[in-house]
Formats: sequence, structure tokens, C-alpha cells
Amino acid sequence: MKPMQYVIRGGRTLNGEVEISGAKNAIVAILPAVLLCDEPCVIENVPAISDVTISLQILTELGAIVEKIDSRTYRIDPRPVQGWTVPYASASKMRASYYFMGALLGRYGYCRVSLPGGCPLGDRPIDQHLKAFNKLGANAVVDRGMADITSANGIKGAQIFFDCVTVGATMNAILAGVKAEGMTVIENAAKEPHIVDLASFLNSMGADIMGAGTDTIRIRGTKHLHGTSYAVIPDQIEAGTYMVAAAATGGNVLVKNVIPKHLESIIDVMQSIGVKIEQYDDAVRVYVDGPLVKTNIKTRPHPGFPTDMQPQISALLCLATGTSMIKEGVSDARFQYVEELRRMGADIQVDGKVAVIEGKGKLTGAPVRACDLRAGAALMIAGLAANGTTRIGNIFHIERGYADMVGKLNALGADIHKEAAPIDNSAEADKEKDHAAENAC
Ligand code: EPU
Repeated sequence: MKPMQYVIRGGRTLNGEVEISGAKNAIVAILPAVLLCDEPCVIENVPAISDVTISLQILTELGAIVEKIDSRTYRIDPRPVQGWTVPYASASKMRASYYFMGALLGRYGYCRVSLPGGCPLGDRPIDQHLKAFNKLGANAVVDRGMADITSANGIKGAQIFFDCVTVGATMNAILAGVKAEGMTVIENAAKEPHIVDLASFLNSMGADIMGAGTDTIRIRGTKHLHGTSYAVIPDQIEAGTYMVAAAATGGNVLVKNVIPKHLESIIDVMQSIGVKIEQYDDAVRVYVDGPLVKTNIKTRPHPGFPTDMQPQISALLCLATGTSMIKEGVSDARFQYVEELRRMGADIQVDGKVAVIEGKGKLTGAPVRACDLRAGAALMIAGLAANGTTRIGNIFHIERGYADMVGKLNALGADIHKEAAPIDNSAEADKEKDHAAENAC
């Protein structure tokens, strides 16, 4: 397929209401989790993003029957599943394919899943995932790019202490742990809202998981899990992205279908920049009635400021006045978008995991390229606020995690269209696409 780009005519103020979709980082674990169930499940509030398409394709390849009920609802019947291997061709399309390891191990006590590969966000090992599987009594080894996980007598509940706070390994330990015999205790667990959502989904099938959202999670293994109907939580990062976009354009936007509690650290940082935010039960209103000013931020695991909002907030700080400092405390390499923002007139210096932003109060439209999902979101925000036209290449990154971003922004008053990327960019973009597909977040 021909590479596409977004063309943004910047300088338009965003006004109105936007509805947030289901959370990407929850649904990519919930879909594999269906494999643990003995009956069909109905999943609601499923975001229309390409990571969902890939997850559903893997489920189908394994033998599940996937039925689309409406644009946001799927019925999935895992009973016919017989497959236990996820090959490179499927697993390499999406980082989150590693959740099929925990889910298939829980279902069968063994599986073979291709490694998701490296990542443009730096070194992202899966040693803690393998540690969890080994603690549960499996033998998890990596052989020629495949994680080969076997257990001679089925998996058994165990005490798992993670050496670092990791979302992926916590989710995988939960996925396998619900079917392990006896009690599993996960310590130093990640606390993100999507961890709680996965646990709530599994509990709605009859699993016995306690403590999700704290750093100690206790799971009593359950033999049989029954069918359920479950709505995915709203996407905290999508909400934060629209909140920043509203502020960057000096607009006034009601961001609907959110859980304000999940947005606390984002709200806190935005308020320190001078953005006004009103909170309601399931919505937040964002507007600007004064100057945007510098701030200092460190990204941390939940409930700290999320690394997945760091590029977007950097774009906003380019539009503020004063010198801001951002310390990246989660990912190894999350400043690759800086070079692209510099094309738009940003003044950002990066030294290792620290970026110093000289806010100039403005940006200028330019041709740029998304190097990962949130980098793409930051460029969208920069393009909306910039004077002139911005063309964003490699938009497949953005479409992996944002449902209908162009439609939602245009409904708020933006001027964005999607068109074929110029031919001379295409070969390069194709090369990057091949590479990035193996390294998706
Ligand atoms: N880590 C290890 N060993 C492991 C696992 C993680 O050393 O076995 C390290 C990583 O290298 C990293 C840190 O622990 O430095 C945190 O990694 P984590 O496991 O928490 O991240 P992840 O599961 O790979 C998920 C999200 C990311 C998000 C991070 C942090 C999914 C599919 N991905 O990644 O989302 O940035 O948690 O919150 O849930 C995005 O949505 O744009 C995105 C990249």
C-alpha cells in the first residue's frame, strides 16, 4: 500500500467536544486474555486502531471466532482455538504481541511466541516476563527469536518479585497466574489503569485477582473462567493528547468519556504550565486564558507523569515561554522526535535522558516524520499550533494507537487531510515502515 501522510494547515483554534475511545494499552492485553476463557466474551468500547486489527488477526490465526457486532463491540469465541504458536510474521507487527505468551501459557501450560523485537524507544528487554514464567514453574527460553515456554506438570502459583516496575511483565504474570494452581503473589507490580482493567476483565470471568493498582497483586488460580461482557476503560493517553492539543491551539475543548482520576498527573503538569482545567464526573474541560509558562517534569510509572505523554507535553512547552526541563524516567530513548520538532523551529537540547526546551512561544509548519506513536501525536499537536502547513509522514505509527484522530480533530475545527506521500519519500518511508513494524510500541 502506498505510504500516506497527514497535511495540517496550522493556526486554527480547537473548540467543541471530543469523545475518547477505549484504552489501547488495556485492549491489547484484554484480547489475548479471552484465550483463558471457556466461553465466548463480548468486548465493548474497543478502539478502532490498527493494534486491535493485528490482535484480532492473531486470535483468528489461533482458531478463535471473531465477530464484529458494531464499530466498537466484538464477540470472540475462544473455544475452537487449537493453536499455541504466534509466528514472527504476526508477532513482529506489534510490541504487545508478547501478551500472547502469558495468555497461551495460562491456557495450555506451553506456547511458542516470536519475540516482538527491539524498539525505537530504546532497549526493551523481556527478561522480567521470562522470570515470571519461570517462577510459575515453566521453562521459558529464547531460541532463534522465539520464546519457547513449556511446563512439564502445568504452572503453579508462586511469589514473583520484579526487579523493575514493568507494565508488560505485570500483565503477563497476571495472564498466566490466573490459571496457575494455587496462589500467585506479584510484588513491585506496575499500577497503571490498564493493569487494573485487565484484572477487572479477568475477575468478570470469575478469576480471583486482588490488589491490582497497588504494588502487590494476589491471584488465586481458577480452573474455569466463564464468558463475560466487558467495556474497556477510556484511553488516558488519548485523553491527555487531546487536552494538550486544545491548550496548544489556545482552544476550549470538553474531553468526554474519561476517568479524571487517571488524568491527575497530566492535569497537574498542564496546570503548572498555565492551562485551565475543569473536572466533571466523566469529562474535563481544557482552555487557556493567559500565557503558557515553563515547567519541569520527570516521567515515572503510574501514578507519576506518564512517559507516553512526554513528547506531547514537549510540543506544548515549545509554545510556552521560558526554559523547561524534562527528565525521562521510564524509557531509554524517548527523545527521537526532538529532531523533527527542531525542523518546526523548536529549540530543544538533549543530553541522555534529559531535554532542555527553550520555549519560543511559536512553531512553524514543516515536513516531518513520526518515529513512533507518541512522537506522531506530538507532531500533530505541533502542526495544529504552527504557522503554515505541516506534512507528517509515517502516519501508520499514529493509526496504531489513535482512533480516527483526523476526524476527531477536524470536528474540533482543525484543517487536516490525509493524502499519498510524495514518491521521493516513499522508498525511505517503506524502509522505515518495515523496520518500525518490527519495533512497534
Ligand atoms: N523492562 C525490563 N525488562 C522487562 C520489561 C521491562 O528491563 O522484562 C524495562 C524496560 O526496558 C523499560 C521499563 O522496564 O525501561 C518499563 O517497561 P514496561 O515493561 O513498563 O513497558 P512495556 O510493557 O514494554 C508499556 C506500554 C508502553 C508504555 C510503557 C510504560 C503497552 C503495549 N506498551 O510498554 O506504551 O510506554 O508500558 O508505561 O502497553 C505507547 O503506548 O506509546 C507505549 C509505548
